[in-house]
Amino acid sequence: MSMIPELQTQRLLLRPLELADAEQVQPLFAQWEIVKYLNAIVPWPYPDDGVFHYYRDVALPAMERGEEWTWTLRLREAPHQIIGAISLGCREDNNRGFWIGLPWQGQGLMSEAVFAANDFWFEVLGFSKLRVPKAVANVSSSRISAKTGMRLVSFEEHEFVSGRLQAEIWEMTVEEWREHKRLYRP
Ligand SMILES: CC(C)(COP(=O)(O)OP(=O)(O)OC[C@H]1O[C@@H](n2cnc3c(N)ncnc32)[C@H](O)[C@@H]1OP(=O)(O)O)[C@@H](O)C(=O)NCCC(=O)NCCS
Repeated sequence: MSMIPELQTQRLLLRPLELADAEQVQPLFAQWEIVKYLNAIVPWPYPDDGVFHYYRDVALPAMERGEEWTWTLRLREAPHQIIGAISLGCREDNNRGFWIGLPWQGQGLMSEAVFAANDFWFEVLGFSKLRVPKAVANVSSSRISAKTGMRLVSFEEHEFVSGRLQAEIWEMTVEEWREHKRLYRP
């Protein structure tokens, strides 16, 4: 786990997840607007210690096994304040997840974080393909996939926290990522 580096974008620090982050993350994450389009495995109502247990029992062990890579997001100008998180994982058809707290949405911040995480997935971890599902209704998340060079490959029904909904599957190959980077590197 110590091999996961801190990443930087123009405005963000991506810092490898630690258990101590749970306390700050809990009130930001435990919001209906954050969880409604996440996988139904996320409980709702959200338990008071949900983030702590998830980090301790699921996320950090997966990082130690070398199967997941999760970073908290912080503004470079305020690095002690966690504002969201982004995660990569070897799971089939579901290689990336992200959320950003309500006060920081709509400023292009997750698009920046996605650029850094995608580059880590392809150029450092060496994977050849990235796949992500998302609820069709999650327009801002779909928009991030589209504008970072992904292709919409299929529709499926998935169970989300807000119920069974139509989902989109987005995909990108390493070649497509490199072409996207060549054209749009920020
Ligand atoms: C999805 C999420 C991470 C987006 O983060 P963000 O930092 O607000 O995203 P950005 O500002 O980088 O980009 C969002 C894009 O969607 C667009 N967008 C946002 N809301 C939109 C809407 N209702 N209709 C159309 N476009 C919309 C924005 O204009 C922007 O596109 P642009 O750069 O071309 O203008 C954030 O809303 C979130 O945390 N949601 C809850 C968790 C979640 O759903 N995670 C994803 C699970 S797949």
